Amino acid sequence: MSAPQPVCPVTLPNGLDGWITTGYDDARAVLADPRLCKDAALVGRVLQAKLAAAGRPTDLSGMFYPHMMFADGADHARLRGLVSKQFTARRVEDLRPRIAHITETLLGELPVDEPVDLIAAFAAPLPITVICDLLGVPETDRTSFRAWAGALMEDTAEVSGPATAAMGQYLADLIAAKRRDPDEDLLSALTAAGDSDQLSADELIGTCFLLLTAGHETTTAMIGSAVVLLLLHDPAAWRAIGADPALLAGAIDETLRLESPVRMASHRVTTAPVTLGGVTIPRDEFVFAGLGAANQDTTRFSDPETFDPTRRGSQHLAFGHGPHHCLGAQLAELEGRIALAALSNRFPDARLVDPQRPPRQPSEFLNGPDRVMVTLSHA
Ligand code: HEM
Repeated sequence: MSAPQPVCPVTLPNGLDGWITTGYDDARAVLADPRLCKDAALVGRVLQAKLAAAGRPTDLSGMFYPHMMFADGADHARLRGLVSKQFTARRVEDLRPRIAHITETLLGELPVDEPVDLIAAFAAPLPITVICDLLGVPETDRTSFRAWAGALMEDTAEVSGPATAAMGQYLADLIAAKRRDPDEDLLSALTAAGDSDQLSADELIGTCFLLLTAGHETTTAMIGSAVVLLLLHDPAAWRAIGADPALLAGAIDETLRLESPVRMASHRVTTAPVTLGGVTIPRDEFVFAGLGAANQDTTRFSDPETFDPTRRGSQHLAFGHGPHHCLGAQLAELEGRIALAALSNRFPDARLVDPQRPPRQPSEFLNGPDRVMVTLSHA
């Protein structure tokens, strides 16, 4: 088979065209190139022009609240700086007992010796509960919060539009409540930052949306894919990971590499002609860093299609690279480690109902299994 072109033209299902990298070095270069802009105003303008040219609906209102993922330079540093303290290694480690408690509660509710979808029953509720905890969403409101979060990720405006509006209103009310009665949570801290003019009302809501959407389905996908890879390719490692921290960390790392939850990084726009992999891309074009492809680049990884939890130092790009490197990477890894160790310890004889790679969710950005049907048995 001939090697893929380093940079290829791509058209997304919504009609948007652009360019995508296929190798490791070009993806890394894209993620760190200051000529590729993420500023919401420019990204929105190019998006609208391209959708109009493709004859697609161009009303993007309500889709974009401002946040760090679509900001550059000083704005990006300000928006990221306001929440980054919460995501340092030490702060994340402080969350360990709470994550372990949520995990054990969810696992205790799983049916034993009969098929269960581990995505719906475990891998989805775990990260959303952790984010609700971090933000300070009251337990009584979490059922609607979870429903909106699911609907937000739907591609159809009919489903995601009303959920965006409902959650925006809910967050505005919750912010007002935190202002009256602040707590120790992230939303109270962000509300205080808003009140001292460090971020606007829209940026405050946008940051909540971002944390929710960036940290939810990605972590769900990672946990689901790790279970499948271990049960399918290395059941001995599945049984061992609960007592072997190095193997556990290796299994998570290898899942992130081989089944990268984010197929390609978010939209970047060329602000000048940019030459990548021998192709000169004109100004005002979208460039996507292909993370899944980069992580299976044969020139970077030996035997890249093999799941090998003993592989070390792979330096995969699943969490991106450069200024927008995933803020929640350590949190996601901790959730993954706690979840997998607990599953393996409790259910060493778990097995897939259908021993093959399950179908993926239909998404050009997210790579996660739709369902992971397993039968769980105690030892
Ligand atoms: C950014 C992946 C979990 C918060 C990113 C980016 C990637 C990524 C690839 C960079 C996007 C780009 O450059 O266009 C993942 C994966 C996760 C995960 C694979 C789980 C396995 C989380 C969690 C949180 C989070 C748990 C927080 C609760 C963020 C934020 C950004 C981001 C805030 C934007 C950073 C910035 O623009 O400066 N993530 N993520 N992520 N992620 Fe994650």
